[in-house]
Amino acid sequence: MNIGVVIGEAKPTEVTAQSIRPLSVGEYVIVDSQNGKLLGLVERSIVSSDALTDIRNFDEAMESKEVAELNTRDKNYKVKIGILGFLDKLQKGQAIVPAVPPLPGTSILEATQQDLGMIFAPRSKEWIRIGSLLRNSEIEAKININRIVSRHIGILAMTGMGKSNLVSLIAKQVSSLQGTLIIFDYHNDYTNLSVPKISVTDAKINPRLLQADKLAEVIELRENADKQQRVLRESFTASVRQAKDFWTALEEGVSAFGHTTKGYADSASRVLDKIDDAKHRFSDILDPDCGDPVDLIKEGRVNVLSVAELSERQANVGLSYYLQELLNDRKDSYWAKKGRKLSRNTTKFSSPLFVIIEEAHVFIPKGEHTDTKYWASKVAREGRKFGIGLGIVSQRPRNIDPNVLSQMGSLAIMKIVQDDDQQQIASAAESLSKDLLTQLSSLNIGDAVLVGQWVNLPSIVHVDEVKGKAIGSDLDAVAEWSESTKYKEIAAESTQGLIQKDLLMD
Ligand SMILES: Nc1ncnc2c1ncn2[C@@H]1O[C@H](COP(=O)(O)OP(=O)(O)OP(=O)(O)O)[C@@H](O)[C@H]1O
Ligand SMILES: [Mg+2]
Repeated sequence: MNIGVVIGEAKPTEVTAQSIRPLSVGEYVIVDSQNGKLLGLVERSIVSSDALTDIRNFDEAMESKEVAELNTRDKNYKVKIGILGFLDKLQKGQAIVPAVPPLPGTSILEATQQDLGMIFAPRSKEWIRIGSLLRNSEIEAKININRIVSRHIGILAMTGMGKSNLVSLIAKQVSSLQGTLIIFDYHNDYTNLSVPKISVTDAKINPRLLQADKLAEVIELRENADKQQRVLRESFTASVRQAKDFWTALEEGVSAFGHTTKGYADSASRVLDKIDDAKHRFSDILDPDCGDPVDLIKEGRVNVLSVAELSERQANVGLSYYLQELLNDRKDSYWAKKGRKLSRNTTKFSSPLFVIIEEAHVFIPKGEHTDTKYWASKVAREGRKFGIGLGIVSQRPRNIDPNVLSQMGSLAIMKIVQDDDQQQIASAAESLSKDLLTQLSSLNIGDAVLVGQWVNLPSIVHVDEVKGKAIGSDLDAVAEWSESTKYKEIAAESTQGLIQKDLLMD
């Protein structure tokens, strides 16, 4: 169906058109050019009225309104259309822009299911459904799961806009493909995810396997407490690491160092307090007898590792340990497959892994060093070769390390209004045009701009809502308050009943 005509000056990458109805920004259209059908994306849409221009007062506006309603030629629907490439080439995954601009007078046609289906919803197995195109809602939107494992993803949006929902959807799809997914869950958002054979556990840290400075972080020694740091470093010997009763051996080592080294008695006793404190407070997490924490991760499953109980510093130690071990395991597995002899004879994961880090701005921050950042950027650089993909999720893109962010080959960006967040994303994603960027503030919950390797073309989609889970839903304070008032009243009544009973008994 003809819905418009190219007017004015046309370029190979951009045309202006007059349309029969107001078109939506983000809608795909066909530009029926002399050299073949081109796919276009409506990037700007302007509606104006001749009669209702240059109005000086209310009466004039009311009169002009009537004139405008009577005159079918009054409205002017003008659109700017970005040319994405030849339709038939895009259907084969190649974006080829014409050398010659479409001539003025070229028809603009409505894009059909047949035109768009092959581009946005290819049929092969690695393409999984995540929703539908926002403005052409009859068209499915799929992402290429192979490319997220090899080229990484970033999921960025303001809080409450649907990041965890998208992660849950990806988890469901990965699960149906028997893939291995690891989600570091900082807010227990995924513990109720209904995915078959999901494995939900608390992330653990085995203190025996840490470097001394990492153990110091985990038991929360202050970074500038040099003497305490030294006490721990000197006492954390190979025999302590291997001792049957780890904590007792460490405590004995610390006491002995305090007694034998002049001027260190006070520091040693402070370290003992810290060990005692950590041992009790973090007994679920800091476990010298848990073996290798990586063994908690099961191949072919969705693994939710809760880090909710950990402080930021501990979670950082835990995450970096996991990332390091997972990358090394994948490397070993890769080299073993190539026939190289390895120092350890078994590897744990024989197939690719995908790791998702929530609250990425905390663990992979801009402008400061963290171990997680070091290992995440190593995974981002090397993961492609060895089959370990990284997904970073954040509501504060401006605070994420720009180097790591720019290594994310694909992005899902949901509603973001802050200018500095938008700028950071723009500099990380070259395929995000200025016009798409301006769309970000007008998106609704669950709407996302998808750019990068996981889609054939940048697109605006509405993500399916994952039902049957309780992820990060906004709490209903009013309902909870009224519940608690009800309980208080019941409690008061029953206490009164008891008091009256007591009085009667007297
Ligand atoms: N695609 C969607 N369609 C409809 N509703 C959605 C969609 N995605 C999310 N929601 C709703 O929005 C709520 C918040 O979503 P979600 O927890 O995924 O946001 P978030 O971006 O992860 O938030 P936070 O920054 O707090 O982690 C959900 O409880 C859900 O009800
Ligand atoms: Mg969330």
